[in-house]
Amino acid sequence: MIFAQLTDIHIKAGGKFAYNCVDTLSHLRNAIDHLNGFHPKLDFVVISGDLVDLGDAGEYDLFKQEIARLDMPFYVIPGNHDHRDVMREAFADHDYLSNEGPLQFSIEKEGLRIIGLDTTSAGHPHGHFEAEKQVWLRRELEAHKDQPTLVFMHHPPFKTGIQHMDNIMLKQADEDFWPVFSGYSQVLQIACGHVHRAIETFKNGIPVSICPASGHQVALDLDPEGEPSLVMEPPAVRIFRWTKGELINHLSFIGDFGAQHPFFGGDGKLIN
Ligand SMILES: [Fe+2]
Repeated sequence: MIFAQLTDIHIKAGGKFAYNCVDTLSHLRNAIDHLNGFHPKLDFVVISGDLVDLGDAGEYDLFKQEIARLDMPFYVIPGNHDHRDVMREAFADHDYLSNEGPLQFSIEKEGLRIIGLDTTSAGHPHGHFEAEKQVWLRRELEAHKDQPTLVFMHHPPFKTGIQHMDNIMLKQADEDFWPVFSGYSQVLQIACGHVHRAIETFKNGIPVSICPASGHQVALDLDPEGEPSLVMEPPAVRIFRWTKGELINHLSFIGDFGAQHPFFGGDGKLIN
């Protein structure tokens, strides 16, 4: 099974560019072409939040109109730029999503449990993992103790060193989030969005990743006094491969990087 993570699309209505400089709609179209053109064909896509920029119904209409071109099923969770109720309404036909409270899901695909968490906190850019969410996640982990599990969430539960993004990470992650996993060993990876760049760490025995955005990236600035800024580094998606109980992932950059060149010549020898 091969599937992808797409994140932080930030669609704006009315032809507006994000931050007056990023054509997020064109970037989404490129991402969809990239996902549809991936070989072998992807089984599904998980979209890990910030589908739109302001959380308006018009933005979701535009997003849905575009994403309808995707050749495979997709699953969504919200980010801080989404509006939970407007998004729930927009995806009312997505039966896997919870009907009330946090907008999240738990599904099984070929023996892999896939959990999508809602880390949003209404009206705030940072994330929260309140008691209600803790109870739900613990129940899911307990109910599927023997099933290898991949967790998607928008806000990362760790510090990246990019100060302005760490200020809006999942708040109280060490108190509210990580303790939920104690006693459960089935989680293979936690895959996040929010920080708009490729970042990886290992925390409490679990690999944790952040996926680059489909459009603009957050500048790599590890100066604690650094100004919040974006940079047009190559957009990417994460491609996951689940086979024989093993989960691995690749970054797949979106763009035209020229033709592929063979390593071996017609004589079967390495080209020298
Ligand atoms: Fe974002």
